[in-house]
Parts: sequence; C-alpha cells; structure tokens
Amino acid sequence: MSSGIEHVLNELRRFDPPAEFVANARVNSRAEYDALYKDSIDDPEAFWAKMAGELDWSRKWDRVLDDSNPPFYKWFEGGKINASYNCLDRHLGTWRKNKAAIIWEGEPGESRTLTYQELHRQVCKCANALKGLGICKGDRVTIYMPMIPELVIAMLACARIGATHSIIFGGFSANALIDRNQDAQAKLVITADGGYRRGAIVDLKGAVDEALPKCPTVEKVLVVERTKKGCAMQAGRDIWWHDAVDSASADCPAEELDAEHPLFILYTSGSTGKPKGILHSTGGYLLGAYLTSKYVFDLRDEDTYWCTADIGWVTGHSYICYGILSNGATSVMYEGAPNHPTPGRFWEIIEKYKVNIFYTAPTAIRAFLKWGDQWPKAHDLSSLRLLGTVGEPINPEAWMWYREAIGGNRCPIVDTWWQTETGSILITTLPGAMAGKPGSAGLPFFGVQPQVVTEEGEPVEGMHSGMLVIRSPWPSMLRTLYGDDDRFKEVYWSKYEKQGWYFTGDGAFRDKDGYFMIIGRIDDVINVSGHRLGTMEIESALVSHPLVAEAAVVGFPHELKGQGICAFVSVPTGVNVGEKDKITLREHVAKEIGALAKPDQIRFTDALPKTRSGKIMRRLLRDIASGIETKGDTTTLEDFSVLAKLREDKEA
Ligand code: WT7
Repeated sequence: MSSGIEHVLNELRRFDPPAEFVANARVNSRAEYDALYKDSIDDPEAFWAKMAGELDWSRKWDRVLDDSNPPFYKWFEGGKINASYNCLDRHLGTWRKNKAAIIWEGEPGESRTLTYQELHRQVCKCANALKGLGICKGDRVTIYMPMIPELVIAMLACARIGATHSIIFGGFSANALIDRNQDAQAKLVITADGGYRRGAIVDLKGAVDEALPKCPTVEKVLVVERTKKGCAMQAGRDIWWHDAVDSASADCPAEELDAEHPLFILYTSGSTGKPKGILHSTGGYLLGAYLTSKYVFDLRDEDTYWCTADIGWVTGHSYICYGILSNGATSVMYEGAPNHPTPGRFWEIIEKYKVNIFYTAPTAIRAFLKWGDQWPKAHDLSSLRLLGTVGEPINPEAWMWYREAIGGNRCPIVDTWWQTETGSILITTLPGAMAGKPGSAGLPFFGVQPQVVTEEGEPVEGMHSGMLVIRSPWPSMLRTLYGDDDRFKEVYWSKYEKQGWYFTGDGAFRDKDGYFMIIGRIDDVINVSGHRLGTMEIESALVSHPLVAEAAVVGFPHELKGQGICAFVSVPTGVNVGEKDKITLREHVAKEIGALAKPDQIRFTDALPKTRSGKIMRRLLRDIASGIETKGDTTTLEDFSVLAKLREDKEA
C-alpha cells in the first residue's frame, strides 16, 4: 500500500472553489460545514430526524434509531414511506409536474424526455402490470436491462408495490443470472430483446433463456422491445412489455411501506464465495441518497445532471434514480459506450443537453485523457459547473486533466467515496465548502464517523495509513446480506467486534487537514474499472475448466482500468498448454461471470507458491504480476524454486 501514500505526501496542490460557486453553494464555507458536521455527530438522532422531515412519510416514525441489537440497526421504526412516491408523486402537486425527470439518449442517437408526470404515469401502469403478473409486496424481481427509461420505470414500479428489485448489470453472463436469481428466489425477470453497446446488440433475452431452466423460482419474463431484432418468446412464460404495460391502468396508489421494508438487493463481489446480496431498506436508504444528492452535487432545480454509471451498479441506483428523482431534479441517462461512434460522444451529450453536473469514474477519465484533448475541445462544455468521480482512487494526473480539459479550471471536483454497502456517499469533497486536492476524497459527510485504525483498532495518527472503519451507524447502511445474517456479521462486523465498528475493507490515509485519501482494497478483492471483483470468484470460474488444476488471481496496476486481472494457473500433470489455451480460459471466465472479469494476463505454471500450511502466497504473486521486486518475508515459502520459475515465465 506504500506507493499510494507516497504520492499523496508529495501532492501539495489544492484548489479552492471559485468565488462564484461559493456564493451560491448550499454549504459555502469550511466553518459552516464544521458546524453542521458537529451537530450531526453530537446529536445524530436529532440531526437525522430533522433531515428525514424533508421526505414525505405517510406515517411519522416512532423512533429514529434502534441500536438494541447490533449490527442489525433499524432506522425510523414505525414510519411508513414509499420510495416511488417520494421520487414521483410528491412533485406532481408542484410546478415540477411538467419538469423533465429523465432525459434519455439511446446509443443510436434517439432522444426521449419523460416529465415527472409522464414518468409517474408509466410507473403506475408498470406497477399494475406487475400485480397482474402475480407480483406482491415482498416478492423479488430481477431486472436485467439495457440503460433505457423502462429500467427506471421498472425499478420505481417495484418500489411502488413493495416488491424488492435485484438489478443485474447487463454485462454479466447467464451463469451470473442463475446464481443471483437462485439466491434471491426471484419470481419475475424483467429484460429486453437487447440493448446497444458500441453499435452491436447485447443479447439480454438470450442470456435469460439460457439461465432460466436453472432458475425454478422464476415464473414469468417481461420483455421490453428495444431493438426489434426479434427474439424467441416462450408461451405462458414470456410477455411483451407493450402488451402488459400499455393496456394497464395508470391508477396505482403507492403502498405504505415500513421504513425498514427491503427496497432492493444488489449483488457485489466479496473476497470469498459467491457474490453477496447487499440488502437495502426503504426509509434509511432513501434518506441517504436524497441528502447526499442535494449537498454533494449542490443540486438545484435549474440543473441538468448526468451520472454516466450503469444502473446495474449502486451508483446508478442512488445517483441516477433514487437520490436525484427524490430531489425533483433532471437526470440524464445514456444507453451506450463513451466512444461510440467517436470518443467525443460524452462531450457531444454534454453540449446537446447543456449538462451542468457531470459524475463519472476515474477509469473513464483515464481513457478520455488517452484519447486526447481534441475530443472535448470540439464541444462547448461551458454549461458544466461541477464534476464528480467515484469508484476507485483517482490518480492526480487524471484529476488535473479532468479539472482542466473538462472543467475548464472552473468547476470544483467532488471525489466521492462510498460502497454498494454504504448506500450513499460517506466521504467527499463538499463543493463550495472545501478545497479539492488531487487524489483525496475529502471529509466525512454529515452524520458519518470514519476513522483510520491499526489492525488492533488503535486510531492511526499522523502520516500513516491503516484500515478504514466507520464508527457509528448511518441510515443508508446495508441491513444484511440477503438470507445470510452470519456472513453479514463475519464480513463487516467481526474484525472490530469489540468496538462495534463497520469494517470497509479499504485502506486509507488521513492528512494534516483531516482529508481522507483512499488507498484501495486490502482484502482479496480487485477494483477493475471502478467495479469490485472477488479474486475468489474468478478463481472458481477458472478451476471449473478441465485445463486448470489450481488458480490464483491477483490484481496489478493497469494504466486505464486501475487494476488489471492476472491469473496464475497450474495445469493437471501431463497436460500441455499454449497461447491458444489462454484465449480459451479468458473466454471461459467471460462465460461464467461476464466480460469484465476476463483476465488480462494468464500465466501458466507448474506450481503456485505456498506456505508450509498450504496457503497460496498472494503477496508474492501480486509482486510478480506488478513486475516489482519481492520485498518482505519469504521465509514461510515452502518451495523457493517456484518463485524463480514464475519470474522466468513472463507474460509474452
Ligand atoms: C469500493 C466500493 C460506490 C460506487 C462505486 C463502487 C472503491 C469507491 C472511491 C473513491 C477511492 C473508491 C473503494 C470501495 N471506491 N469510491 N472515491 N476513491 N476508492 O462501488 O463496487 O461497492 O466498490 O470502491 O475501494 O470500497 P463498489
């Protein structure tokens, strides 16, 4: 972890927000932030109660926080609320009724604008269609769709009737669908005949057809006709969206749900075993998404806001849908790739819709930087007033390019740290209140108590890094892992059980101004293009292939993706392997998990370096994959020759 710390120590640049931005900002000085933060920590229940009052509740809560059974915290017990109502209905009685809720751009170039009123109408019709398909409050619905408005309509329709949605990123494979459908015991899958990506059609329905024979709980499939390329429809199981939704009634009152009612499950990778079903609540989650959207993006009614994430990830859940719409703001949604048909596509969209706030990932910024200044320069980006990043640490070079080439040295950059588990942003630069520093996330959001600690739980002071923990509960925290309370306790709460702290799995460093700089994962999870992948999942995918005896997967620094995937593979005795087998194995992983999990490098080896007790020494493999000299202790290594051989067998 040392390389990251060294670079922040050398990073002395800081950029104060421009006076004009400060003058209009919601929080416009460090002193004001400090005072608000202090209030939120001194009396969290009073703070959260006050903030929760900005949402619409059909029954007020009896109690803000029930912490009698940690780590199973409950927020706003007794309160009744509906997320769909808060994103839609509550704006209909105001001038926002005809305001754009979603401005959508399809990859082939179509454009659709849904006002709050129209979105509400479509959501109600979809909700009635879901009821017609037998979906009730508490049922799980899998959504596997391209980035089209029907995706937002489907999620808000589920929320409206109290069905728990589980959105699966369209880049995942049929096998990933099987695991997730089975784990969630989904009753319905909502998909499309395809979606556009770099000019090609992604065959989502084909993957659903392949998965469903192994998903016994799924009864029906609702299919949006996006591409009209035609797809097989299984009688009695598959229903076209336009048949079920278009004819449904537009009258569907929102269910009054308990604050703790499960709003969604979102699967994410862990260091061991199958993906974890992160379970989020309704009231607490919505409050976190709402409040951070309002303050971190300094969201205004006049703004056109664009988050480039896919809704298959938590960023899209919180910052395209729930947080943005509950604020009554305008959310731009784009279906396709950033470089289709040219690397100027994003800048063209910003110019076309006069986007004011732009939120994207470091991996994308690094790709733009590489593609060159000529692309953004060809467009008028003067509408932009605020930029954001999320997903992984941003290298100062990319940060500076983002500020200059995209922000015209005029827009503050908010570097937002959070996780699928946290539901909403926990550490961030608050624009208008604090200076931005390249590579540093910033300070805690209101009500959040992060701390950098040692392995043993001692606070780390001064210029040292340590484990990042969160010391007290917050409303949008995950409630459990779906169906697995024990794993929930083990993964997040066992490391600092005595102290009762949430363990993030990240390493961090706190500078002299109190800013948090996130160094990255300290567990066996790698961050590829801002998305977490468990090395263990990729290893099991590899081992399921007959060419593989044993596999160890590690991350290595990658210019564009942040981290690349390197797989060390030992083959069964007597088997000879060559270059073409590397391709076979890469394709095999793509089929098992999805293209994003394909190893960048595969290295065949006779044996993996192990300790005498048989544990694979990943630390050594990481060094080899990164091409650095192995520092540190190798005395526990069982067979030294293994290490020498691995170094010789360099990737061609
Ligand atoms: C992990 C969470 C939260 C939405 C996207 C990823 C890393 C996230 C930052 C940031 C440095 C970051 C952390 C975290 N991460 N944001 N601003 N700076 N690292 O969600 O897949 O749940 O991954 O992403 O390592 O633990 P996720």
